Amino acid sequence: MNYLLPILAYILGSIPFGLVVGKLGYGIDIREHGSGNLGGTNSFRTLGVKAGIIVTLGDILKGTLAASLPLLFNTNQNILFIGLFAVIGHIFPVFAKFKGGKAVATSAGVILCYEPLLFAFVLLCFFICLYITKYVSLSSMVTGVLTFIYTLFKQDYMLIMIIGLIVAFVIYRHRANITRILNKTEPKVTFLSGKKK
Ligand code: G3P
Repeated sequence: MNYLLPILAYILGSIPFGLVVGKLGYGIDIREHGSGNLGGTNSFRTLGVKAGIIVTLGDILKGTLAASLPLLFNTNQNILFIGLFAVIGHIFPVFAKFKGGKAVATSAGVILCYEPLLFAFVLLCFFICLYITKYVSLSSMVTGVLTFIYTLFKQDYMLIMIIGLIVAFVIYRHRANITRILNKTEPKVTFLSGKKK
């Protein structure tokens, strides 16, 4: 049982919703379009609003489901620790040659299972930052850093460690976005005018 849940969480996290929805629903491999990322943002950008919402929800819920495994299997394994494997699965998916997304939505899903109020904080930070900057990538990174700062006020070392690790992953995966932001070539949100198929 000790190894089963991390493996199950990793497999859940590996489900590449962006790839599945793009290929099955639109005949498009989103890795060949937009930012080339498998996540919700590139699905909005490449496939349109409906697909973007489906992919984002799928990516969030797989994190929530993975983190819920200790509750579902009635084990005392740490929710965040198991959820971390879903985040790793999303970044390095076994079903997509280990080239996955940037971990934002799946991490939010893990947080939703851990503490819904913290998830609400994450959403609030993200949308305020998005409203101000219009950059999804920057909003994702700033939200990650603010979430990490929030955890520092808690006496939960597992939370601090895992959120710290996740935020490091998130920032590392946004290297290309950081370069584009600095070069002023990062696209701002134009979801509603995105290509609809
Ligand atoms: O969730 C990923 C987002 O922060 C950036 O995605 O496609 O603009 O690189 P993208």
